[in-house]
Amino acid sequence: MRIPLVAGNWKMHGNRASNRALLDAILAGIAGLEGVECAVCVPFPYLGEVAGRLADTKLAWGAQNLSEHAQGAHTGEVSAAMLKEFGCRYVIVGHSERRQLYGETDAAAAAKFAAVLGQGMTPILCLGETLHEREAGRTEEVVGRQLEAVLLLNRNFGNAVVAYEPVWAIGTGRTATPEQAQEVHAFLRKRLAPGTRLLYGGSVKKDNAAALFAMRDIDGGLIGGASLVAADFIGIVQAAARAAQQKD
Ligand code: PGA
Repeated sequence: MRIPLVAGNWKMHGNRASNRALLDAILAGIAGLEGVECAVCVPFPYLGEVAGRLADTKLAWGAQNLSEHAQGAHTGEVSAAMLKEFGCRYVIVGHSERRQLYGETDAAAAAKFAAVLGQGMTPILCLGETLHEREAGRTEEVVGRQLEAVLLLNRNFGNAVVAYEPVWAIGTGRTATPEQAQEVHAFLRKRLAPGTRLLYGGSVKKDNAAALFAMRDIDGGLIGGASLVAADFIGIVQAAARAAQQKD
């Protein structure tokens, strides 16, 4: 049985005061919940404060990106060892915004994935097709290629998490139907160990989360916009906990 994971991806949002309020509200909301793991992936400057606030709580924390290099003359970059020092458990790798806006290649995502595992942290590897690729019937080819690049460099997949995030569903309010998501998850599942958690991401809200998480191969979500509103994020975590009970 895979324990579901709900991870918030704050992207480039927040400030010190709003982060504190958001974390306090989330912690209160998830206090009694069992059978689900949750995390927030925050902008680099806030890691120290977030780590302090979340130490010894049920909410894990992570980063949204890192350098594939261990150290050196890489101005503006952040290494896996630096993140590890802040107690990061998760690092998002290969998010479509990194791929599309910053030219991150499949090979770079694979190298970053290896850097995360090398420090004993857990990569959340994002895969997903564009609308154009979906309409051309190329979804499996694209996500298969993105995954293959990582598997090629990482014979040991460790406890990594995979997030299927159709690019056309991210931040658009247009979510994949549970059936569309399940179809891709089933395709990916065949290439992964049975215990690997497969999240869905892309406009997950508290009102559509239950139907998505009810799908056999969907083990939780990677949540952007809705992770910035405590009540919405808590509602999604509750939906994941309920879905896991029903799958038991
Ligand atoms: P969204 O973002 O929930 O705002 O669509 C998801 C993501 O980019 O991880």
